[in-house]
Amino acid sequence: IPVIKAALLGAGTVGSGVYQILEWQKEEMPKKLGAVVRLKKILVRDTKKQREGMDSSLFTDNWKEILEDPEIQIVIEVMGGIEPARTYITEALQAGKHVVTANKDLLAEHGKEVLDAAAEHGCDLMFEAAVAGGIPIIRPLKQCLAANHLTEVMGIVNGTTNYILTKMTADHMEFSEALALATELGYAEADPTADIEGYDAARKVAIMASIAFNSRVTFQDVHTEGITKITAGDIAYAAELGMVIKLLGVARNTETGIEVGVYPMLIPREHPLAGVNDSFNAVFVHGDAVDDAMFQGRGAGKLPTASAVMGDVFEIARDLRAGSTGRINCTCYKELRLKPAEE
Ligand code: NDP
Ligand code: HSE
Repeated sequence: IPVIKAALLGAGTVGSGVYQILEWQKEEMPKKLGAVVRLKKILVRDTKKQREGMDSSLFTDNWKEILEDPEIQIVIEVMGGIEPARTYITEALQAGKHVVTANKDLLAEHGKEVLDAAAEHGCDLMFEAAVAGGIPIIRPLKQCLAANHLTEVMGIVNGTTNYILTKMTADHMEFSEALALATELGYAEADPTADIEGYDAARKVAIMASIAFNSRVTFQDVHTEGITKITAGDIAYAAELGMVIKLLGVARNTETGIEVGVYPMLIPREHPLAGVNDSFNAVFVHGDAVDDAMFQGRGAGKLPTASAVMGDVFEIARDLRAGSTGRINCTCYKELRLKPAEE
């Protein structure tokens, strides 16, 4: 059975999930892929840290060991942040390695640049995990729904804030206690400011809008409001009205331009989004041919996110076996046509 060698950049919440799924899939991989994907190196900051169940002989803090190893064909970036992730991903692509990343911060700001680098070097750059954790949404937008003129993509795209709002509503928990729990469960970003201020959701909205509307939408284009100002009183008042509060990300492709925003909204209790609780996310899509479609599932956490990462890795491995990697990424974005602000 051919062995496809990969390197993992990061062994935190998502990285440890990727490691675990690779272990679980050892026996099924040959049947599914006609090959086995095996980790050759794991890049971390602290090589001495104890990481339960992981082979410590794979750890390195030296990126060049991975970059300069011709055996490593797939780089899985789950470190987070812009730098050094941007440099490592670009260098990996320039070296002819395929890349899978969960890094929405990088994609929302420099997506075009890294996708162009992938296209230039005939490599794949896949990022299903960057939006809505375990829910398949990037591939549906890019492939399954590609024959539609899409006019709306909206929903709950941040697990941490949905968990906090759920706990504040159902258990009357304090904001800070719910945030601490979301962090403990591995839902929150290394700096949870991005979650609670809505920046993480805004990055996901920018990525989805870029793909859905074939337009270059970046994080800076998204009007963003988080949940830090939501009080227990607001939640009680919403309940009196038969409503719940949810943080929504909305992208609309209208006659007059594209609208993109993230804001907390009052939703009637009987609305399908009102029942999306805990770390679950849900994304609605409207297209001229498909009509309405909805995608729902775990939007954050170790295994759901690693599930999406590994789906991408398996797809690349299958293509490597078939000798057909280097898909045409959608970098042919039109210029952004943002809707003018209301007077
Ligand atoms: P963690 O903070 O848990 O893990 C980050 C890992 O990356 C750590 O192992 C860390 O090493 C390593 N690392 C960070 N910087 C460097 C560096 N400069 N050089 C070498 N190693 C480095 O993050 P998560 O696993 O939660 O998130 C990873 C990525 O996945 C982020 O982009 C995040 O936005 C994204 N993501 C996360 C989800 C989640 O639910 N957590 C869901 C969807 C996407 P060390 O352990 O030595 O410190
Ligand atoms: N911090 C993110 C969230 C992780 O809570 O949704 C998944 O992208």
